[in-house]
Amino acid sequence: MLMRPMPPRLVITAGPTHEPIDAVRYLGNRSSGRVGVSLADAGDARGWQTTLLLGPGELKPSRPGVNLVRFRTCDDLRALLHTHVPEADVLIMAAAVADYRPKPLAALSGGKFRRTSEKLMLELEPTPDLIAERSALREPGQYFVGFALEPREEMIASGLKKLERKRLDLVVANPLESMGADQIEAVALSKSGERIDTPGRISKPDFARWLLDVIEARAPRLGMAESADRKDPRS
Ligand code: CTP
Repeated sequence: MLMRPMPPRLVITAGPTHEPIDAVRYLGNRSSGRVGVSLADAGDARGWQTTLLLGPGELKPSRPGVNLVRFRTCDDLRALLHTHVPEADVLIMAAAVADYRPKPLAALSGGKFRRTSEKLMLELEPTPDLIAERSALREPGQYFVGFALEPREEMIASGLKKLERKRLDLVVANPLESMGADQIEAVALSKSGERIDTPGRISKPDFARWLLDVIEARAPRLGMAESADRKDPRS
């Protein structure tokens, strides 16, 4: 009987988080999620089983095969990662997760905060580093990719630090100007010391295909390196 290989299982996170200040206000960032949405469409187009965990925003994947799950806060995303990552072969963490969130205040929780003439101090607390948490629980053969959006002069050094600190397989370093732009110029830095540059500035859909090629050639459970234990027993 011919054994049909199981498609690779890809989990992508994208977009900003919105951290509530009160019932109607939040702390957010300018991420559109476009890179992650392009990655999800590109993954589905390759026949990979693709789940996109997507933050607040207008964009959506165009391919109906993408399993789209929405989140709002860092805590929502943390719970979704807990559910989806154990089954994944590859995790691409493109979400712009807030580093700090407003500390809940009795006065602010529950409803809408009213204006007074007094000064208002917002206290912020650090959020957990979600990808570092997942790396600590990684299953053998899982391949984890993070992003580092940095000032251009620092992007390689910072990317290498994040690769090590978050115990990732690959970090995609890209300059701050990429946020909100149509094109992206990036460098992938691998745990084994490789540096792979995009061919100059490329569109976000082209970047998505480029990054999936980089991952496919390196992730232990994908492509040529696929192991016999991932053959579909039903076929
Ligand atoms: N990330 C995460 N959880 C957070 C913050 C970031 O998982 N709370 C992930 C991002 O999705 C990205 C990578 O970590 O893949 C790098 O994000 P970045 O904000 O650049 O890194 P920080 O850890 O916030 O480091 P710094 O503030 O020093 O830039």
